[in-house]
Amino acid sequence: MPKQILKNADEKIKIASTLASLEEVRIEFLGKQSALTLEMKKLGNLASETRKKVGEELNIVKQEIVKLIAEKQISLEEKELEQKLIEQKLDLTIPARTRRTGSIHPITQCMDELICVFAQFGFSLKTGPSIETDWYNFTALNIDEDHPARQMHDTFYLENGEVLRTHTSPIQIRTMQEVKPPHRFIAPGRTYRSDSDMTHTPMFHQIEGLAIDKDIHMGHLKYIISEFIRNYFESPSMEVRFRPSFFPFTEPSLEVDIRRNNTSSWLEVLGCGMVHPNVLKNVNIDPHEYQGFAFGLGVERFAMLKYGIKDLRQFYEGDLRWLKHYSFTSYDVPSLVGGLTR
Ligand code: PHE
Repeated sequence: MPKQILKNADEKIKIASTLASLEEVRIEFLGKQSALTLEMKKLGNLASETRKKVGEELNIVKQEIVKLIAEKQISLEEKELEQKLIEQKLDLTIPARTRRTGSIHPITQCMDELICVFAQFGFSLKTGPSIETDWYNFTALNIDEDHPARQMHDTFYLENGEVLRTHTSPIQIRTMQEVKPPHRFIAPGRTYRSDSDMTHTPMFHQIEGLAIDKDIHMGHLKYIISEFIRNYFESPSMEVRFRPSFFPFTEPSLEVDIRRNNTSSWLEVLGCGMVHPNVLKNVNIDPHEYQGFAFGLGVERFAMLKYGIKDLRQFYEGDLRWLKHYSFTSYDVPSLVGGLTR
């Protein structure tokens, strides 16, 4: 009887072609319901002489089956591994996936270029919050409650009466409150106006500039602005024109136009002027002792003019093809020595 079991087991183990079917064979011959186990259970009923003999025989058969299964298992495992290696073969000749590297957005690049030029003129950097109080954004800048200039700005008002700053000029006020004159800094940042078309986006960027000292006059303003424009556009022959204008926070106020050569038309690029005495008074600076100039420019406009970008809205559409064309590699760090442009 045990010999027969061993023979049957041996045959089925030989046939088993997968680890799963081998497991079935193991359960059939060694499991709780197997003939061998049942025989072993019956041992107790046998006379002690026969029990010993039959018991030994059953044990030998059991060990034999265990051994056969173990051997078969090893060979099946090897076979399955080989199969897997064939199926999952790596093709090392396939080219690697290209890695997309990030790039510098043209606005960031232009900001860096603008900052770089002003750094050469000894201007330091200041920043301020995007959310401003009415006082910082308007009142302190000599824009009264009912001043028409408040309507000039399509302002985003928050529920608590605060505003998203409509220009970077409040940074003038904050800085003059914080530190004593003299001042010579620029302040880049995001600005917000409720406006959207080919030439306006609700969020855009400005750079504010302020220089305050005891002996600053309009000659300094005109020199700095002209030099800045020619440096930024890397064009010593760029024509710069100053036109009278109006801003509540400067007196006199000027608008600046540029022209590449005689044939092209004048383009308006920034606003500036001598800081209004009222603004200085609002931050407790004596206008008889200190004067200076301020300017504000739109970064998008400077980026568009320099890099030939046609539609302002494209800056913020996140179109990868557009970005690929207009963005910069992170290795293009602008400097006056190495070059501002790509
Ligand atoms: N704040 C003005 C604007 O946003 C620009 C400006 C700044 C003009 C400083 C003069 C002086 O239009």
